Amino acid sequence: MSDPVARFAADRAAAREAKDPMAAVCVLATVDENGMPQARTLVLRDIPEGLAIYINASSPKWQQSQERVAIQVWWPSVQIQYRIQARCEALPALHIAESWQLRPDVPKQMDWLYQQRPQSSEVNDRDELLNLLQNTQLPAPLVAPEGARGLLLLPETIERLDLNRSNGVHDRTRYVLDAGRWLEHTLIP
Ligand SMILES: Cc1cc2nc3c(=O)[nH]c(=O)nc-3n(C[C@H](O)[C@H](O)[C@H](O)COP(=O)(O)O)c2cc1C
Repeated sequence: MSDPVARFAADRAAAREAKDPMAAVCVLATVDENGMPQARTLVLRDIPEGLAIYINASSPKWQQSQERVAIQVWWPSVQIQYRIQARCEALPALHIAESWQLRPDVPKQMDWLYQQRPQSSEVNDRDELLNLLQNTQLPAPLVAPEGARGLLLLPETIERLDLNRSNGVHDRTRYVLDAGRWLEHTLIP
């Protein structure tokens, strides 16, 4: 298949079909202000425009994701890994306003807490955190705070590694977007 975006979607559908818990998530890799790599698990969403992630602007990863990021997925059920480098585009506020309503209660409260205390900042202990959360004022009606954000991921390179080959030789392909066309290269696995 020469369209790696469609290939990713088909492989992910197979992983979902196999009830692979990893099908829901990705690892987002960024580079921090000290030049250190940072990686964390995030839910990987399908939206009509493509792949998306939801993150809070109070977290350092928001600034780190303004231009390009790398994401990685590994689906044990189908024995496939993808490594993707993507350009990021902030999702429109209207999209966030609507999708945010679907979040469970505690993540909604946390998003409002982040308006006072940034995500990934330190507290004294868990009691202080729970106290802060309890004292966080929520607006009525409950709407998304300004810091709730999302990014559309626009892949520029996609690498697929398929371990599931009967002769034991893994199948590795890199796709590179070039002037709107995907170029395909076979790599030594
Ligand atoms: C299964 C799983 C799903 C997660 N999904 C998200 C997510 O969608 N958005 C998010 O901001 N953090 C998510 N997290 C938490 C992040 O991995 C991370 O701990 C948090 O965002 C703080 O990251 P930071 O230090 O880069 O700010 C998830 C963690 C796990 C284990």
